[in-house]
Order: sequence, then structure tokens, then C-alpha cells
Amino acid sequence: MTQIAVKVLRKQQEALDITSFELGKPDGSALPGFSAGSHVDVQVPGGVTRQYSLCNDAAERHRYRIAVLRDPASRGGSVAMHDRLKEGDTLLISEPRNHFPLVHASRTLLFAGGIGVTPLLAMAQRLSSIQADFTLHYCTRSAERTAFRDEIAASAFAGHVKYHFDDGPPSQKLHLERAFGPPQADTHLYVCGPTGFIDWVVQSAKKLGWADANVHVEYFGATPQDTAGDKAFTVKIASSGATYEVPAGQSVVQALQPHGIEILTSCEQGVCGTCITRVLEGECDHRDLYFTDAEKARHDQFTPCCSRAKTAVLVLDL
Ligand code: FES
Repeated sequence: MTQIAVKVLRKQQEALDITSFELGKPDGSALPGFSAGSHVDVQVPGGVTRQYSLCNDAAERHRYRIAVLRDPASRGGSVAMHDRLKEGDTLLISEPRNHFPLVHASRTLLFAGGIGVTPLLAMAQRLSSIQADFTLHYCTRSAERTAFRDEIAASAFAGHVKYHFDDGPPSQKLHLERAFGPPQADTHLYVCGPTGFIDWVVQSAKKLGWADANVHVEYFGATPQDTAGDKAFTVKIASSGATYEVPAGQSVVQALQPHGIEILTSCEQGVCGTCITRVLEGECDHRDLYFTDAEKARHDQFTPCCSRAKTAVLVLDL
């Protein structure tokens, strides 16, 4: 995967516990283009790799902007970004990739939960620039935890944004049925935020009769996995016929590495797709957020950084 060295051009507090970082080429040259909904992998100080959505106007080529929520419960990425990364520092990122693209629609509804606003902000900018019909519902715990309020207020799309604060009066709370309106084939819904928020929006849309194809989801980071029932299984390497056991508590990538079989990884959370490996036989226990349900159902590829097996043996095209 192509890596890009970027410099932190600007670091700015956007709300309580939320900091944005503007990244640009050290020599000021143009960055690769991106579309609204894209993210980059960032090599965070300390060695971990994390995905962050780009939250600036996709027409810009001089900068990428990301925003990071300080989450002490996370596995270290967000705290290092807040505490260690300074203006002028350089870091490595991937080229932007988009697993959450806007599709053409007569009407677009964007649902942001907290820091999940980042890809949706780029979408709002794009939809505003093409004068599309859209609304951004922006839910946060409180006004002080709401990033980009001043920027939105000053933007051309300020009138398209509705805020919903957990600590605000009931009248301003998000009422999904009213926000959705009746299901329409040419209306598309996009949701990003914590897993519980996403599930609430997606399940409500389902119950109200929205087609899966009209509901688009970007998980913010990995979903929590219940690993309590994990069992050992065997992977067979098709090229050599060798078999290796993958114990509970170890990923396929980790189990193969001591045997000299290196699978390239990046996020190690089933988000980026770097580790995708073809599966020739067996049924996968998919734990990733990368593949669509239809792709998962084929059981012909999986993400060995986190996914496991439902059958006793998985034959891998390695
Ligand atoms: Fe990112 Fe496996 S390393 S999906």
C-alpha cells in the first residue's frame, strides 16, 4: 500500500476531548484526491495504525483534515494523537480509500453520533456544493462536545444541520421516524458513530421498511467482539499442504507468523482490508467491517487479522 509522508500543518481543539489535525505534504505539493466518505490509515506515534475519516472538503488538494476523540479506554491511538503529535511533526498515512461513498439520490439523510460526524461533514460539504437535498442530524452528548459548530454555522449548509444534544430538552431529541419520513427508493441514509448509535439508526430504518441498499454505514473503529466462545481451528496452506492450529485468543495472522508465513496487516481490526486472504475451502466466521453481507456469504475470502472459522478447517490460498 502506498504510504504518504505528511506534516501536521495545524492542530486545533474542536470541542471537549476532540482535536483536529490538518495534514499536508511537507513540500506543499498536492495530495492525492479523495471523495466524501474516505478515510486514511494513520501510523500513530507509538506504532499502532488507526483509520480516520477525512472531514474537509473533498475538493481540497492542499490538506487532509482528520478529527480525533480522546478516548482513554481505547487501545492507545487516540491518546497518543492528542498528547504526542504536534504541529510540524511528520507521520505516515495511506492514500485515502472510500468504503462509504455517496450514491446519487434525490434526497440524502446523514446521521452522525459524536465523532462519527467526520465523514458526514465531508458529505455535507459535497452535497451542499452540488445543491443536493439533504439534512445532517448531528447527535452529541452536549454542546461542548460538539465539534465543528462554528464552522458549520459559517458554512453554506448551516440550514441543513439539525443538532440533537443528549442533555437538551426533549423537543430537540432525534425522533427517527419523523427524521426518516416514509421509505423512498430515491432517498439514501448514511450513519456513522458509536456502535450503539449505528445499531439504533439501522434497526429503526429496517423496522420502518427501509431497504438495506438505501442504508449506508461507516463504523467508527471496530465493533466490540464477544470472544468468549472462540475455539481452536486448523488452517491448511494450499501451496504446501501444511496445517497449523489457531488457538482461541490468537488470530490466524498471529498463529502463522512463527512459521514464517507473514500476512501483511495494517489495522488488525477488520476495517482496512489489508490482510484479505482467499479461502478455498471451509466456512469463515467473519468478524470484519470490511466486506458486505453478500461478500461474507460467499466464504471465499476473509480478514485473518480478526476473522476465524466456523468449520474445523479453513484452506487458505497461500
Ligand atoms: Fe485491516 Fe485485517 S489488517 S482488515
